[in-house]
Amino acid sequence: MWGGRFAEGPSAVMREINASIPFDKRLWRQDIAASKAHVAMLGAQKIVAAEDVRAISDGLDRIAAEYEEGGVPEELALEDIHMHVESRLKELIGPAAGRLHTARSRNDQVATDFRLWVRDAIDAVDAGLAAFQCALIARAEEHADTVMPGFTHLQVAQPVTLGHHLLAYVEMIRRDRSRFTDARARMNESPLGAAALAGTSFPLDRDATAAALGFDRPMANSLDAVSDRDFALDYLMAATQCSLHLSRLAEEIIIWASQPYGFVALPDAYSTGSSIMPQKRNPDAAELVRGHSGRITGCLTSLMMTMKGLPLAYSKDMQDDKPPVFEAHDLLALSIAAMTGMIETIAFRPERMRAAAAGGFSTATDLADWLVRVANVPFREAHEITGKAVRAAEQKGCYLWELDLADLQAIDPRINASIFDVLSVEASVASRTSFGGTAPSEVRVRIADARRLLEKQP
Ligand code: ARG
Repeated sequence: MWGGRFAEGPSAVMREINASIPFDKRLWRQDIAASKAHVAMLGAQKIVAAEDVRAISDGLDRIAAEYEEGGVPEELALEDIHMHVESRLKELIGPAAGRLHTARSRNDQVATDFRLWVRDAIDAVDAGLAAFQCALIARAEEHADTVMPGFTHLQVAQPVTLGHHLLAYVEMIRRDRSRFTDARARMNESPLGAAALAGTSFPLDRDATAAALGFDRPMANSLDAVSDRDFALDYLMAATQCSLHLSRLAEEIIIWASQPYGFVALPDAYSTGSSIMPQKRNPDAAELVRGHSGRITGCLTSLMMTMKGLPLAYSKDMQDDKPPVFEAHDLLALSIAAMTGMIETIAFRPERMRAAAAGGFSTATDLADWLVRVANVPFREAHEITGKAVRAAEQKGCYLWELDLADLQAIDPRINASIFDVLSVEASVASRTSFGGTAPSEVRVRIADARRLLEKQP
């Protein structure tokens, strides 16, 4: 009665829900490389005859050239990139194409392809982050002496140098890069040869295919090999943490660019205007970096949820592993490029930063420290005396260094004129020479260190 319509309907929907080619075509380079390694090994192990190996390998090269030239065709009926390559191979070389899939399954194939792809993605991200660090270091050097307010609770706390502030991000990115490096080292094992889940009866040389694809070794358990997606999660976790750092810097740029702060002027290249308010210059690139970090975190959550309940070994849910990784990677790569560009071109406004650094009685701690160091006052008592000095300055509506010596001595007679040496913002930052502190001299040492590290691990 309804058979005619039903027969067509579900199969069309099934084709659509089943197909991954719209996104997994991005794996074509890795798929062809892994197939070439596999068939070469099948030849060396005498599982497939030499002439068939040659025909298959040449055919794969032709397909690579075609895809390079014209892109990957999308045929929903062929499901995924693996079937696309194999079916094109059959068109090109005939029945010998059917020997490529000996001792292999799409399960170990996709696990291999995806690992290779994530490994390349890590290398690309690492190069981008190194360039970002270079940009931060260059601006830090330029502004090693520039005084700005350091904040806690977004309240002016103590003066710091802009160079010091920028180097904080160099440290965050250094940790991000080490997370990506760890992930790369951990994932660099080959699933190829695990076949569907149980291994194979053919005399494979898994060491050979692992080596040919740049893996350190074959994975030791075939069930794990086809069902593991830790490498994708490791990538997403590292990407998420990195994106959080980019988002924090983006947020700072957004705050710094707002008129009441005015610490920076955004370059034309990284801002936009408003269609109604002619005076506007909006920090859209920074806002999008901040926004993208939310989406990248969502990609991590998405894959964690996909994986959490899956029994061994392969389940089709795992086809959904790729879109979040691709999306996160694209967003992260773009965010790194945008932040690098912004840092390279942003105009810092040292006079605005210095003025803000002088406000909020930011050198009060220096006054207290002077009492401890020079007058041998216990710190808690010094804190109390300084609080009174701040109140006096507040009442007079002046900076701490504008108070008369007599005013200060009325608060505590142990104070003498040398206190004025420590109350300026320049004196304050110059004095903070402890390891990792904000003094320009210390910042320059840390810049030299950061450069050395970058040369070691470019
Ligand atoms: N397109 C599939 C994926 O991405 C390939 C593996 C298919 N394996 C299977 N047993 N149906 O996961």
